[in-house]
Amino acid sequence: MAIAALAAGPSAARPAREGRVPHTRSHDRRALRGLDWAARSSAAFYRSLEAALESRIESNAMDPVRNPYAPGAGQRPPELAGREREVQQFEVVLERVARGRPERSMVLTGLRGVGKTVMLNTFRSLAIQRMWGTGKIEARPDQSIRRPVAAALHMALRELAPRHRAPERIEHVLGVLKAFAQAAPESAGKGGKGGPRWQPGIEAPAVRGRADSGDLEIDLVELFVDASSIATDLGVGVAVFIDEMQDVPPDDISALCTACHELSQVGGPLIVVGAGLPHLPAVLSASKSYSERLFRYTRIDRLARSAADHALTAPALLENVGFEPDALQALYDASDGYPYFVQAYGKVTWDLALHSPITAEDVKVAAPEAEEELAVGFFGSRFERATPAERDYMRAMAALGDDPVATTEVAASLGRRPSSLSPARDSLIKKGLIYSAERGQIAFTVPHFGDFLRRRPE
Ligand SMILES: Nc1ncnc2c1ncn2[C@@H]1O[C@H](COP(=O)(O)OP(=O)(O)O)[C@@H](O)[C@H]1O
Ligand SMILES: [Mg+2]
Repeated sequence: MAIAALAAGPSAARPAREGRVPHTRSHDRRALRGLDWAARSSAAFYRSLEAALESRIESNAMDPVRNPYAPGAGQRPPELAGREREVQQFEVVLERVARGRPERSMVLTGLRGVGKTVMLNTFRSLAIQRMWGTGKIEARPDQSIRRPVAAALHMALRELAPRHRAPERIEHVLGVLKAFAQAAPESAGKGGKGGPRWQPGIEAPAVRGRADSGDLEIDLVELFVDASSIATDLGVGVAVFIDEMQDVPPDDISALCTACHELSQVGGPLIVVGAGLPHLPAVLSASKSYSERLFRYTRIDRLARSAADHALTAPALLENVGFEPDALQALYDASDGYPYFVQAYGKVTWDLALHSPITAEDVKVAAPEAEEELAVGFFGSRFERATPAERDYMRAMAALGDDPVATTEVAASLGRRPSSLSPARDSLIKKGLIYSAERGQIAFTVPHFGDFLRRRPE
């Protein structure tokens, strides 16, 4: 009966004990692993069964409900490991900008899953702690940033308003913001569905004649100057965070750079903090050659071994769970230090581990399941976005190795002329699956993607 209940999985009836978390499939799997199916005598088998059941009953065994790890886009990690330098840099930026000192804003770049979104959110928290007004947008290809920026600045002003002594000043800037939001050229028809004017949810009457010319460059400058003047009154600043910044349409990128440039000249305490794929600096400098003087580029990368260990051990320690050194080595071998993978392998290993300390054997058992989850959630979801022709293109890239490859080489291996492959390449770049590291070279934006493709049956 006990064996049947264990083997039957979660649906098998089992008396629930008060105060105990419901068991899960992984509990059962752990218990089953502990069984000595090859036992030579029934007595030996029952001894192993007793041990397995005990481990299920023992409440200080690994508890999946307390699993601290958090694989997922933008998911706040239980421990932000190895980013102390970036955090410190940003604190200096905040301090200097609030004091009206010249300072370049920060732009984070890196592959997918290295923790850019998490860093932006961390930066935003730091700004909020300093009483700044903040707002965040996620850029999308082909979408003007006018409305998202309006919404982000609205948020920032709402954060600042209650502390401001002159409500009519707030009212005025909100009116300018409303006019800015409504000045979107597409609200006249195209893209705006020809419906009534977009209402940004601002009650103040729109203030005409400022930030509403319809030319984003002019309008952003005026809006930024007005919004930052509110922050100046309070001795703080305004920070606008832009995630997936490489997707901001070219015209808007150019307008954004101009606005930041103008603002830095008048010392207005408003900064634009961006995050994006590794080619973002190239996108910015193609738009405005002075962008390098506007932004400080910070590359976010894989975690060093010590940081990756810390990302795993610090949250576990809070739950009284430890790792054997071999287990940490095995986890680093599997994750390669990429934060997303650290969380993914950490999570499954925890669920399948028998007890603390977690061993290398636990990691070995968990790895295939973690890989399967990554294949579906992390790699597969991206692969699905590609058309058959684009998939062929990526397979050809993968066959050439993991370093950036020349587009001419990809063409040669497919037996095609490079120009005939440009549409596939451009579309993959637009979908954010590959990026152009330098002219004529391309690479995957997703770490280990080549490996995933090479292992995937066609
Ligand atoms: N410094 C870090 N330490 C530990 N885990 C992290 C760290 N940064 C990010 N992560 C984890 O990595 C995953 C990906 O983070 P995310 O910010 O979405 O990456 P990106 O925006 O670069 O694609 C998340 O599960 C997050 O919890
Ligand atoms: Mg992100």
